[in-house]
Order: sequence, then C-alpha cells, then structure tokens
Amino acid sequence: MGILAKLAGTAGVAGIGGFALYATAGAERQFQIISACGPAFRLLDPETTHNLGIEAAKWGLFPEETRPDPDILRTRVWAKDFPNPVGLAAGFDKHAEVVEPLMKLGFGFVEIGSVTPRPQPGNPTPRVFRIKDLSATINRYGFNSLGADAVQDNLTLFAKKAREDPSAKPGLLGVNLGKNKSSKDAATDYSIGLTKLSQHADYVVINISSPNTPGLRALQGKKELEALVSQVKGTRDRMRWGPSGPPPLVVKIAPDLTQEDKQDIAAVALKYKLDGLIVSNTTITRPGAVADYPEAKEAGGLSGPPLMDLATDVLADMYRLTGKGARPLNKSVHASHLSAD
Ligand SMILES: Cc1cc2nc3c(=O)[nH]c(=O)nc-3n(C[C@H](O)[C@H](O)[C@H](O)COP(=O)(O)O)c2cc1C
Repeated sequence: MGILAKLAGTAGVAGIGGFALYATAGAERQFQIISACGPAFRLLDPETTHNLGIEAAKWGLFPEETRPDPDILRTRVWAKDFPNPVGLAAGFDKHAEVVEPLMKLGFGFVEIGSVTPRPQPGNPTPRVFRIKDLSATINRYGFNSLGADAVQDNLTLFAKKAREDPSAKPGLLGVNLGKNKSSKDAATDYSIGLTKLSQHADYVVINISSPNTPGLRALQGKKELEALVSQVKGTRDRMRWGPSGPPPLVVKIAPDLTQEDKQDIAAVALKYKLDGLIVSNTTITRPGAVADYPEAKEAGGLSGPPLMDLATDVLADMYRLTGKGARPLNKSVHASHLSAD
C-alpha cells in the first residue's frame, strides 16, 4: 500500500511536472509533444482515446495554430472563405463540445455530428477497432448522440463566444445530421435537426451513408433520396433567414455504391440543386491487406488509408456525373467534397 501510494505520488509529481512543461511550451513544441504521445495513446482502447481527446480539448490542452494560413490556401466556395481546404470530418466532435479548440488547431472547417433529433446511446461497446499496421479504424458507433437540443445549446454558446471574439472561429462550421435508430420517418428526423441546428451552421450535411444505422444507406436510392431531399430542402426554404440566406445543404454518400446508384444520386443532386456532396463515408468492404487482420471481421465502417483509393474513385465518378460547372470543393484528408451547383 505504502509502495503504491509512493508510486502514485511520484507519478503525480511527474504528471504535474510534465503538464507544467507542456503548458509553457510554444504551440509548435506542443504539436510535437502530442505527436510523440501517439504510441502511448494507442495502447488504450480507441473509444477511451477518443473521449480523452475530447476531454483534453475541454481542458485547454490542445495546441493553437497561431500562424495565419498563407493566402494561397484560401478556398472560396458558396461565397464563403475557407481559410484553408483541410477540414475535420464528422465523428470526432459528435456533440459540438469542443468546436473552438478544434478550429484553433488550424482546420479550415470543422464538421460536428452526426447529431440525431433525440438522444440515443448508439451500439454497445466495444464499437471502435484499430488496425494499427494500416493506420485504419473500423467503427460501429451507431450514432451515439446527445440529441439536437443539447447540441443546440453547445452551438449557441459557441456562436456567442465567436460573436464576442471572432478569433474563436477562424474556420467554417459544418453541422452533420443523422436520424434516430427507432425513427420510421427519416425526412422528419433530418428536418428536425435542420430546424434546431442550422442557424449556427455554415453548411448542413444530410448524412445517409453511415453503415451502422439499419436502413440508413437505403436512403441513397433514387426514390428515397428524391423524397428526402425535397422535404428537407422544403423545410430549409420555409425557414426565415438573415441577409446571408440559408446555409448550403449537402448530402454525404457512401463509397460502396453501384454505378447506377451514383448516376441516380448525381441526377437527384442536379435536379434539386443540392449545394454539394461529401465523398465519402466509411466503407463496409475490407479492401487489400485489411482482410488479413482479425479486426476485419468486426461489423462497421472502415476508414483511413485503405479507404483512400475507393473514396477517390467515387469522388472522380461523382465529379464527372455532376457535369459541367462542377468544381472540386475540399479535398481534405478526411472527406472530399464536391460542389454540385
Ligand atoms: C470513429 C469514427 C466516427 C465517425 N462518425 C461519423 C459520424 O457520426 N457521421 C459521419 O457522417 N461520419 C462519421 N465518420 C466518418 C468520417 O467522417 C469520414 O467520412 C470517414 O472516416 C472517411 O474518412 P477518413 O478515411 O479520412 O477517416 C466517422 C469516422 C470514424 C473513424
């Protein structure tokens, strides 16, 4: 007991000392320290690491990129200026708890969510798996969400902060909407999310491509997508908007689509003048070397380098299918977007 207490005490002092060193280091050094800690974080269960990341951000432990982005990185889309084209995809800050520290890391945009209208716990744990050798992840979170009301509170606080101090929001904010597992009426769910959360969004995402909500990906079918997009767009257009108008509406698609699916999605995107597509979500396939790892048998969506070729092929297809006038929006490490207008 004595020895344990002594060890804990020593570790505590070392921890406080390490923290003091970290806190007083410059931003560049802090980025280096965090990268160096990567292997240690990877010893923990991936969802625990994810949660620790969120807590660290809440505690102000994320470094801040203070150097302004070079002008050449500025990317103008939808008459909005992204300070750089690299963004953080949905899934990290699901409940909009740490938007400010994420923006200050240097991202050109941060996409929060997916948010479901009502709170729901998601799938049982464990639900996130690493394939360390391939820097890949398989997740089946299943839209664990605090729900639209809680996220609305978080976004309202962040918007107030950003009004008082514009440096709190150097980039753009995307709001990614999901549906509740038990909900039979997807369009109503997305409309609720839009109504509650879009006033703070620079763009809104209808996510119909997560593989972990039964039936969700079926919404990518032509008839289903037409009904969904027309209803959600109708909701957006009936809302009251300030002088800058409504936020752009984009649909996030899966990489696991047939040629016919892609043609149908492109046709709907053009017909309803969607503002863009996000290509892509995680894959249910297990390409290349992934299949050799035991984690490949876990249900869920695969992300990371093994998804890159597949996602890039779908991006190219959607770019071609949405025709003349389509301009690449953001080719971030996490998600590639293309404008369909
Ligand atoms: C742990 C985890 C959780 C995710 N959660 C969501 C989510 O809630 N909504 C969503 O649209 N995409 C979600 N994604 C998908 C990512 O936004 C991204 O589309 C996908 O990971 C592919 O990009 P990447 O290979 O660069 O990670 C999640 C991804 C991961 C790894």
